[in-house]
Amino acid sequence: MCGIVGAVAQRNVVPILLQGLQRLEYRGYDSAGLVVVNNNRLERERSTGRVAELAAKSARSSGQLGIGHTRWATHGAPSERNAHPLISGGLVAVAHNGIIENYEVLRARLSAEGYEFASDTDTEVIAHLIHSHYARGNSLLAATRSALAELVGAYAIGVVAADNPAQLVCARRGSPLLLGVGDGERFIASDVSALLEVTRNVVYLEEGDVAEVNLRSHRIFDASGEAVERPVHVSTLSSDSMELGEYRHYMQKEIFEQPQALADTLEAVCYSQSLVPGIFGAEAAAAFSQIDSILILACGTSHHAGLVARYWLEEIAGLPCSVEIASEYRYRVSVPNPKTLVVTISQSGETADTLAALSHAKAMGHTHTLSICNVPESALVRLSRLRMLTRAGPEIGVASTKAFTTQLAALFLLTLVLAKQRGRLSAEEEQRHLHELRHLPSAAQAVLKLEGDIARLAENFAAKQHALFLGRGMHYPIALEGALKLKEISYIHAEAYPAGELKHGPLALVDKDMPVIAVAPNDALLEKLKSNLQEVRARGGELYVFADAGTRLHSSDGVHLMQMPEHAGYLSPILHTIPLQLLAYYVALQKGTDVDKPRNLAKSVTVE
Ligand code: F6R
Repeated sequence: MCGIVGAVAQRNVVPILLQGLQRLEYRGYDSAGLVVVNNNRLERERSTGRVAELAAKSARSSGQLGIGHTRWATHGAPSERNAHPLISGGLVAVAHNGIIENYEVLRARLSAEGYEFASDTDTEVIAHLIHSHYARGNSLLAATRSALAELVGAYAIGVVAADNPAQLVCARRGSPLLLGVGDGERFIASDVSALLEVTRNVVYLEEGDVAEVNLRSHRIFDASGEAVERPVHVSTLSSDSMELGEYRHYMQKEIFEQPQALADTLEAVCYSQSLVPGIFGAEAAAAFSQIDSILILACGTSHHAGLVARYWLEEIAGLPCSVEIASEYRYRVSVPNPKTLVVTISQSGETADTLAALSHAKAMGHTHTLSICNVPESALVRLSRLRMLTRAGPEIGVASTKAFTTQLAALFLLTLVLAKQRGRLSAEEEQRHLHELRHLPSAAQAVLKLEGDIARLAENFAAKQHALFLGRGMHYPIALEGALKLKEISYIHAEAYPAGELKHGPLALVDKDMPVIAVAPNDALLEKLKSNLQEVRARGGELYVFADAGTRLHSSDGVHLMQMPEHAGYLSPILHTIPLQLLAYYVALQKGTDVDKPRNLAKSVTVE
């Protein structure tokens, strides 16, 4: 969370900072701020509104060196006084992404030394610490390194000093940061999207790196203080992919990009005649032959993808599979099995809990690690021995959509590859699954045609306070995902249950004011689900049923049927996700919420 951008150039950097902040707004939007160095003074503007408001406030700001920040509040309310950059002694300014865990001790000590605190943030201790070393005549780099040595926690920081008009210093540990290499100018940013208009040449900082960034050069020091060279990558991200185009919101755009995202993710497979472990990395075949179980670690929507995959992995590949919420696993005493393949799933690859869970698994002796991730250069991908990249393209809407369905596609591939390697997939079955995968993008396209009907259905939800989602088997996680989408963008309280569990408690909630949304694929559990739906109707609950072709379910009094174009067998959870995404989107439109930036949330959760 929080986005950082910085620039040192021979032109006014304010427009660069503002554009970068606009691109980083998905990382947090509680407040925004920037500092520029002008005539040996720090000029700061901050705003609790969006970046557009900061832009209006900064219309007169100008300077050739500066840093900017967009905040997701952790310590201290989202107020102007807590907005970054934070300044110490009019000399040093810091923008920070992360959490400083020992800030209270440091704050007490610095206060005793005479430093006054103007905010409630943990970040302000960094500014004062750097100031305390800098004011004693150390270089900005040396002062920053000394300050960092005292910090416990996670950070990516950008630092400037009023009397150092052509240099910025930055560092990362636990939060992402990269350098942008321009022609006679240099930049820093939390991710490459912030720099697309100024450069595509980027250097990814590693954990523990500190860098001194000048107009025409930069020096990077690793965690041990050694000077290191890090390679320059040329980003292929297109700035078009970041634009909204014909859509009203990024979430809508991203829902509609799913057929293409699925096709791109499956590209390597769809044109081949057989499945090979190599799609997960050169060492995959050897690793897969040594494993006897799977452990999936992830958060939020990515965790739901893992829950679906468990059904596939156990049924098709015959591998015992457990799925854990990363933030729980990392602190739980568990029993490691060195023959387990640890699979982490993440859109961003920067989620702090998922990264920590992976490190924890490794520390417990797990050596077989695989990440399924949408960001190739992310920390998660770098920390895993094997990987499969989803090719969903940038996901900007805070609610995850295309990342989820492409994760499912990748997990289905993993299932098939493991099943094949374990002799559980005949050549005929392999060809049938490949055929179904090739058909998946067009099947997803057909589901998107339900948009108009779902928009009309959503009108019934605008006045509701609660909603209950039901599914069975591998569609239970889809019910969970539908409920998560609805609550996060429409703020309607939504819960999901396996339909068979209804009579064990939640049925007590059902009355005429409780809409019940059921995922009804045409599978072996259909008849059981129909009985569960009768239980709801008998209590006066209003049913919204997303049913496959051939289910012989019909609209009637209190039952609203949404007919899916087909039944997609094992891939059905992917298709059944799409109408629930559209439902959440149109209910949020009805309620007039900020769809792409729902309250209290941020896209990339880089704090614990
Ligand atoms: C919900 C959502 C979150 C993320 C979660 C993990 O729509 O987006 O629940 O899925 O924060 O994020 P990643 O996948 O980046 O690790």
